[in-house]
Amino acid sequence: MYFVANWKMFGNLKSINTLNKVIKFSKSKEINKGRLIYCPPYTLLNSFYKKFKNCLIDIGAQNCHENDDYGAHTGYVNSKMLKSIGANYVIIGHSENRKKGENDNLINLKVKSAIKAKLKVILCIGETLSEKRKRKTKSILSKQIKIGLKNIKKNSNIFIAYEPVWSIGTGNIPNQYELEKILEFIKKSFRGKAPKILYGGSVNPRNIMELKRVNYLDGFLIGGASQSAKKFIDIVKKTYS
Ligand code: PGA
Repeated sequence: MYFVANWKMFGNLKSINTLNKVIKFSKSKEINKGRLIYCPPYTLLNSFYKKFKNCLIDIGAQNCHENDDYGAHTGYVNSKMLKSIGANYVIIGHSENRKKGENDNLINLKVKSAIKAKLKVILCIGETLSEKRKRKTKSILSKQIKIGLKNIKKNSNIFIAYEPVWSIGTGNIPNQYELEKILEFIKKSFRGKAPKILYGGSVNPRNIMELKRVNYLDGFLIGGASQSAKKFIDIVKKTYS
């Protein structure tokens, strides 16, 4: 199982000390077969990389620019730059960025540039509450997958993170039956081998007991709870308990 910590726009140099507990945990037997990946803001990527040098915790970025070459793009960072400082993953298409205007075509360009730079892509997809109410979930997810992964031939470096927008940061999660149906739908929308699938949206040490029973899941994308080392470790432990 994969446990991806999405720190969003949180954290400073001081927060790096909180990682000691996680490093210790990652070297213990309790980690089982869990794979930990931290996605801090760009400003902390290098410090995290150095901090995790002697353990198996991986790092990833939260976004990238769509151009794979250097260029005059003030304020942006491309996949090649991320790879060069030790990132192995990148989150693309997070709903917080879609809300700010990133569309599926732009997301597709980002996915392509990340794959070219040999990063693993965590492609976020998910419906809003109003889309859910209008029963559009499946058509939204299909579109996000179809356009987001256009011309991507191999899925081995792709992870799909199903993150219902109405669940992110709200404490609400889909019920097990509902979630399983959607994950099955996502899996079946791939002809060949489907990518690994993560669930994201208000994952915490309490609801993990329910979420871990859901079929078709290869892991979790964890926002708020991942900023607490204790909660993050608890989520992993409880997944295997
Ligand atoms: P949350 O965020 O766990 O705080 O709901 C998840 C995400 O946005 O990736």
